[in-house]
Amino acid sequence: MVRLARREQQVGAFQVMDLIAEAQRLMAAGADVIHLEVGEPDFPTPAPVVEAAHRALDQGHNRYTASSGLPGLQQALSDLYRRRYDVKLAPERFILTPGASGALQVVLSLMLDAGEEILLPEPGYPCNRHISSVLNIKPRTAPLEAALGFDLTPGWLARHWHADTRALLVSSPANPTGKVLDERSLSVLVDWCRERDAQLLVDEIYHGLGHDRAHTPSVLEIEPDEVWVVNSFSKYFGMTGWRLGWAVVPEAAVDAANRLVQNLFLAPPTLSQHAALRALKSDMEEEYEERRAAFRGRRDVLLQGLEKLGFHMPAGGEGAFYLYADISHTGLSAMEFSNRLLLEEHVATTPGNDFGGAAPHQFVRFAYTCEVDRLQEALSRLERFMASLPRAQSK
Ligand SMILES: Cc1ncc(COP(=O)(O)O)c(C=O)c1O
Repeated sequence: MVRLARREQQVGAFQVMDLIAEAQRLMAAGADVIHLEVGEPDFPTPAPVVEAAHRALDQGHNRYTASSGLPGLQQALSDLYRRRYDVKLAPERFILTPGASGALQVVLSLMLDAGEEILLPEPGYPCNRHISSVLNIKPRTAPLEAALGFDLTPGWLARHWHADTRALLVSSPANPTGKVLDERSLSVLVDWCRERDAQLLVDEIYHGLGHDRAHTPSVLEIEPDEVWVVNSFSKYFGMTGWRLGWAVVPEAAVDAANRLVQNLFLAPPTLSQHAALRALKSDMEEEYEERRAAFRGRRDVLLQGLEKLGFHMPAGGEGAFYLYADISHTGLSAMEFSNRLLLEEHVATTPGNDFGGAAPHQFVRFAYTCEVDRLQEALSRLERFMASLPRAQSK
């Protein structure tokens, strides 16, 4: 009687899950595992934000809100964009969703019809191709070049854009490479899509976590009206478990986006919205900026340590909290590297396999989501591991 739709076959499991299960088994057996595989901030949600949620719960705010969210939340997001990017966006263009994951579902549903093709540069966030497939959109992945620092250049677009490509989805700062697109690169993407009457979606979930430039530009600074953006409270605001994100949609899509939110989710999660209202108050910025500075300090420690051990990070580590390292000098595949490093030295990392691209088995993602002393300990363990490899070449 039970029959699963073929769509199900398009949605792959994450290969890293076996590794995470192994790390948990080791920890249960008492091992001191250092977690560099985790894609979420280790910082807790700031106390005033948690207190706001407590207060909301005490006051009985545990029912649905309007699908457009609590009064004031869209305005608070609009204010954030004015402060951060100096762009003025109508509050109703902010569509609140369960995480950026919900925002991706809403936006992809509205952007493309079934069977239309979206171009996805890889290495990239694996759910993009899976969500597209579930929506019967055709994901076409194309490899970014490590030799060019995983940069999205006009040449890359010219090579990989097909006559029937209707949309492009990029992330900046990117997962897993940490690559940040500057104003010029974003302008190229905007012009490219405009000239082809195609849609552009930029995933800005790691915004606020740029490490090398004073400002990480939003695509909305370049084109405030005709592009789609997704973002979330998960990363910069340290609220992964609260499941609250947003999309910024073009004015013409506001009504349809609200109808989709009503039907898919009814409303964004209520308690999380109360917390988010507090998180967006400007007096919280100092704490978030301290966290950003801490991430930057950790990035420096890990980047220098990995380079000393002969690893090459083609994209550097401009943003987010990831370094994507070429491990080919170890003589191991990414899967072998991550498995052995976990088993032999109790350091958990993410092999490139899930992220796609030209040579995923040659790359490993290191997340600096733990304290500097733990990163230093991880580097010492990694050094010992490298010394044990017969084929490892130091550079
Ligand atoms: C690039 C990217 N986009 C979207 C998401 C989804 O995040 P969330 O649903 O927690 O907002 C993630 C999560 O890791 C991500 O890395």
